[in-house]
Amino acid sequence: MVLLDGKTTTEKIKNEIKIELNSFIAKGHRKPHLAAILVGDDGASRTYVDSKERNSLALGFDSTILRLPANTSEADLLAIITDINNNPLIDGLIVQSPLPTHMDEKMITQCISPDKDVDGFHYINMGKLARGDKGFVSATPLGILMMLEAYDIPTSGKHCVVIGRSNIVGRPMSILMSNNSKYGNCTVTLCHSRTTHIEHFTRQADILIVALGKPGFVKANMVKPDAVVIDVGITRIDDSSRKSGFYLKGDVDFEEVKEVASHITPVPGGVGLMTIAALLSNTFTAYKNNIGV
Ligand code: GUN
Repeated sequence: MVLLDGKTTTEKIKNEIKIELNSFIAKGHRKPHLAAILVGDDGASRTYVDSKERNSLALGFDSTILRLPANTSEADLLAIITDINNNPLIDGLIVQSPLPTHMDEKMITQCISPDKDVDGFHYINMGKLARGDKGFVSATPLGILMMLEAYDIPTSGKHCVVIGRSNIVGRPMSILMSNNSKYGNCTVTLCHSRTTHIEHFTRQADILIVALGKPGFVKANMVKPDAVVIDVGITRIDDSSRKSGFYLKGDVDFEEVKEVASHITPVPGGVGLMTIAALLSNTFTAYKNNIGV
């Protein structure tokens, strides 16, 4: 069994970005700049945004976090997004979700310039993905693709089963894996919460990608021997014996499934780290488009 290690893989990707960035800086170009807007005080969102900033700065990017109170009006948020859209020195913009309930998240996402939409949530970027055209792909599916590429896992002609149909992970993942591209060309089955006899499908998967948010859902008897198993789940489980008060568990029963799979991602230390690397990669792409290299 090969452990698909997010730590070494992301270090390699970040290093490649750093080397390329240094060559641009040496030629007198500015640094890439990622902006994030956080509305309200959601603890998990704060942690995510802080981590995005830490990783951006470590790579030599500029980072701006705009922390707005939960009672910010939609009009004020849209005015800030417009300012950032028009700022040529900012390459990427993230509006962290969830937004407070008085805001129309779908509408707000569509107000981010597609050229700065490093989350890949804008309809234009989702449309490009569906057509197989170049655009920003949301970070978790892109990170998974980078993982398959890093370990040179053959995908062409394989059966990929994706569990979960979210707009952020499952649906774009299913499109990527079916696209006519080096780490695509799969036959794809998309399973979800209404799929009956889900194990009938998972047992046929050469590549199984699980993103449904149910800790420990996939057991060894649901996995074909020598399948590649990618676990997107990351649920906090209360545990008073730990200092943090919780531990993280994936959607795959790792201890069981690692005995059957040919390759498997750990949780933590797998897809979560790849998501951040993919976001940095998208920001770097937006930057290169902006400086014209
Ligand atoms: N909330 C949870 N995941 C994400 C993400 O990838 N991007 C944004 N903007 N918000 C999120």
